[in-house]
Amino acid sequence: MRDQYGRKIDYMRISITDKCNLRCRYCMPEGVEIVPMSHLLTFEEVVQVCTAAAELGIRKIKVTGGEPLVRRGAPALIGMLRDIPGIDSVTLTTNGVLLKKYLPDLLANGLKSVNVSLDTMDWTLYRQITGQDAFLQVMESIEAAVDAGLQVKINTVLLKGVNEDGWEQMIAYARSHPVDVRFIEIMPIGAGKTYSGVSNEELLRRIREKYPALKEDISIHGNGPACYYSIPGFAGGVGFISAMHGKFCNHCNRIRMSAQGEIKPCLCYGTSVDLRRALRKEFAAGQPSRLQQGTQPSAELKNLLAEAIYQKPQAHCFERADEITENKKMISIGG
Ligand code: 5AD
Ligand code: SF4
Repeated sequence: MRDQYGRKIDYMRISITDKCNLRCRYCMPEGVEIVPMSHLLTFEEVVQVCTAAAELGIRKIKVTGGEPLVRRGAPALIGMLRDIPGIDSVTLTTNGVLLKKYLPDLLANGLKSVNVSLDTMDWTLYRQITGQDAFLQVMESIEAAVDAGLQVKINTVLLKGVNEDGWEQMIAYARSHPVDVRFIEIMPIGAGKTYSGVSNEELLRRIREKYPALKEDISIHGNGPACYYSIPGFAGGVGFISAMHGKFCNHCNRIRMSAQGEIKPCLCYGTSVDLRRALRKEFAAGQPSRLQQGTQPSAELKNLLAEAIYQKPQAHCFERADEITENKKMISIGG
């Protein structure tokens, strides 16, 4: 469906857990509050929401977290979501630590494409950024995913004074591997507020100095606001997601849902619509149990979701820090 500004909203990111097996400095440095399992939507509830979303025109779903693969059954959920009429693609964003382990299960559930978050190719720096010694595991996962025929994108956040020079090594990886390396500008959300990022405009200038044959590539690769470039002789591409310096709100096509069932129409604002209450109200009122209800959404659920989509704000205000009303950590929003 279209929102109040006429944008076609066809993409939904759903977080399925606030937990993560890493502690990236800019995301969750001081640990997480434990959210009781009963506060998370069950997979049946997630399917109900996504069924309603599909009826409203959502066509693509991204499963995120926290780290989605730490929630038991995540691959099966992907299969359940793929089966929803109207849903054309279900993809996954992961830190890659558990990707190799779950790859057979993910493939069996029809996964075709995966985004792996990886901020450096240097294993000591990896440990400094993420708090864990998992670099080799992630690299093995990426290679296994490529070998299995998945489309793989690597998402990299460059931070000033931390990994800002690491872009050369990240791009070098795309020379020999058919993966797109995408640079995401850090947004002032949660712990991200305490870091300064590298502007993608500046980065593009530096990359161009090194690779003068860099060319914009307009063939579409994915769901959203990334712009892509190719370098002759490279197996993979280079992408830029410039939320800060290349505000793309006019073309925004997405909504997000937290693991607790809150719909967030825009990353910048704390405003959300609580679907969990609607999902469980009927249950509490003595209606059939959630499992018996199956996966058909109620009219109320669909109306709430439609209203949340319609009310999506026109644009983020990250450049005006005092107007940002989102105080949550990125971990509970899902990036
Ligand atoms: N700004 C931009 N990206 C972020 N991520 C986490 N926190 C932020 C932030 N403040 C990224 C992670 C991961 C994706 C899911 O979100 O690096 O790639
Ligand atoms: Fe975990 Fe991703 Fe946050 Fe790192 S950025 S702590 S991998 S959720």
